[in-house]
Parts: sequence; structure tokens; C-alpha cells
Amino acid sequence: MKRSKILGVGHSLPDRIVTNEELSEVMDTNNEWIVERTGIEQRRWFTPGVDTVTSLSKKASLQALERAGIEASELDFIVFATITPDYYVPGNGVLLQRELGIPGIGALDIRNACSGFIYALSVADQFIKTGMYQRILVVGAEIQSSGLDKSDEGRSSAVIFADGAGAVVLGTSSDENSGILSTHLHADGTYAEELYCKDPGSSREDRFSQELFDSGSFFLKMNGNVVFKHAVVRFIEVINEALKANNLSKENIDLLVPHQANLRISQYIQQKLEFPDEKVFNNIMTLGNTTGATIPIALSEAWEQGRIKPGDLICLAAFGSGFTWASALLKW
Ligand code: UT7
Repeated sequence: MKRSKILGVGHSLPDRIVTNEELSEVMDTNNEWIVERTGIEQRRWFTPGVDTVTSLSKKASLQALERAGIEASELDFIVFATITPDYYVPGNGVLLQRELGIPGIGALDIRNACSGFIYALSVADQFIKTGMYQRILVVGAEIQSSGLDKSDEGRSSAVIFADGAGAVVLGTSSDENSGILSTHLHADGTYAEELYCKDPGSSREDRFSQELFDSGSFFLKMNGNVVFKHAVVRFIEVINEALKANNLSKENIDLLVPHQANLRISQYIQQKLEFPDEKVFNNIMTLGNTTGATIPIALSEAWEQGRIKPGDLICLAAFGSGFTWASALLKW
């Protein structure tokens, strides 16, 4: 069976930098709390009228295509991970496809939040392995800031989430020993309401009523403690699952790129795995948590900084709303 491989990776961030000080002017929070509990010093938020999920993902995709050395016209398919599409319907894959000027090819949206990019990568990997497609654009992009509760009540989520986009071009590997070795996807809907956005839910008499707006049910709600406790367990579990499936051990990993949920979660994982700093990539300090976009943005930045080299064993891992969690092991 064919193996799939990342041929190019890119990312794009909104220009607007939002510091912790700026947030403390609109809600009851402070720099010390945010840095101590999350590691975040600043994040990027979009500028209305300038950035859209489509525009950010287009820039990320063009960079990934350029680095892969292929034209958009050579793509066979798009898999787009986002929970914050520009439109409620249709999904964002078709909007990106239109912007790239490649009508006709299929475009699929994935709504698995923080694990969305690894789910998307896994779907693309299956299409390439079976020979159905040769070149797939896999995107993770979000604009979270427009949907955050920026009152005191929403502060624990508002200080974390941010905006940005990342993309990879997945193609057929010419070398049997390099590319995606395996992906591992999990979910447990028991915890769906621990991190969710209830409305506009369809099972409502009037899903856009003023009453619902006023109740705050359009905002993302997170039970941070519960999410944190499950995350640290599942991250380790799913990383070990990937290693076991490939008869590898943690010492074989050159770089772990965890979903950027909270720096404390990444540090906990690092400590459990007994990894030195150079084996874990974090950028949440400057970019915040961009949900489905954190992993492709981190991959792109790590690649730019020379922290990913040909032949390296890279482990991707994520946990988030659903709960869902996932990992991917790849030889670069
Ligand atoms: O990517 C998707 C998955 N998401 C995650 O993985 C997030 C996981 N969870 C977390 O990262 C953390 O739980 C948070 C950063 C969200 C919260 O940190 P925490 O250490 O769990 O804080 P907490 O919710 O237990 O709150 C501790 C205190 C509370 O005050 P009291 O009751 O002790 O007086 C909160 O009201 O901190 C207060 N607090 C804040 N204070 C200042 C909560 N948010 C803030 C804030 N600024 N932004």
C-alpha cells in the first residue's frame, strides 16, 4: 500500500497582537494569572473586514503549496478542519477551493475542534493510501475571537483562544520508509458538554431567538478543570498507542508537536515522557490556543526554525472538545 507524506507546510496569522494587559482592560483578569495558569503572553486576533477563515487559510495553503513545489491545480481534494467556518453553511472547504481557483475537486469539512487537524490528516492519509487521490490539501483554521465571551464570566476561555491558520500538502511518498506511519483517533461523547457551544442548536423551537442570545448559550463553554484532567491522561495514552503500533519507543521521537491547549498541559506531557525541551515544540506563549489550527501552525513554525529535518520522527497529538483525542506518527 502507498504511504502518504507531507510535501509542504505553511501558516498564516492575523496581524493584530492582543496582549494579556489588553485583555485585563476589558475583563477581570491579569497578566500574572494568565501566564501562570496557561503560559500565554499574547495571542493573535483577527481584524474584522480584513481577515476571514478563508483568507487566512488561503495564505497558509499557498505557502504550503509553494514549499511543496506544486500548483493548486495539481490538488485532488481538500480536507478542512474548523469549528469556526465563515458561513454556518456551506463549510469552509468549498470557500477555500473557490479562492484557490480549483473548482470541481471535492472539499470536506471536519468539525472535531482541537483534534480536528489530526482527524483531517488521517482522512487524507486513507485516501492517498488507497490510491483514490494523490495530492490533498489539509487545513486547520479558526477565528475564535469573535465568538468568545469577553465578560468576566467568560474569562477562563477568553484568555486562551485565538485565531490563525495552517495547512499541509499531503502527497504520495516515494520512499516506503518515510511519511505518515499511523494515525489514531478516539472520542468519548460522555463529556460532550464539558467543552461545547450549545447554540445555534437545531433542536430549538427558534434557534436564533433573542432569548437564546441573551442566555449566553452562543458562547463556547468550558469546564477547564475537567478538560485539563482528561487531557493529560489521553495525550500520554494516545502517544504511547502510536509508538506501540509502530514498535517504537519514546526515545525514537525527534519532535513532539502537541496541540497547543495550555502550556501547562504540554509541560506535564513533557515531564511524563522525560523529554528535554528541544524535543517538544510549543508556541502557545505568543499565539494562544487556535483550536484546529495549532498543529499545522506549529509544524510550519518548527519547520521554519529548522527543528524538523528529513528523516526525523515527528509525533502529533491532540485532545479537545467531544471529548476527542488523536495522534499521528510520521517520518519527515
Ligand atoms: O484546547 C481545547 C482544550 N482546552 C483545554 O485543554 C483547556 C484545559 N484547561 C485549562 O487550561 C485550565 O483549566 C484553565 C486555564 C482554563 C483554567 O485554569 P485553572 O487553573 O483550571 O483555573 P480554575 O478554572 O480552577 O480557576 C481558578 C480561579 C477561580 O477563582 P476562585 O474560584 O479560585 O476564586 C477562577 O474564577 O481562577 C479564576 N479565573 C481567573 N482569574 C483571572 C478563571 N479565569 C481567570 C482569568 N483571570 N482569566
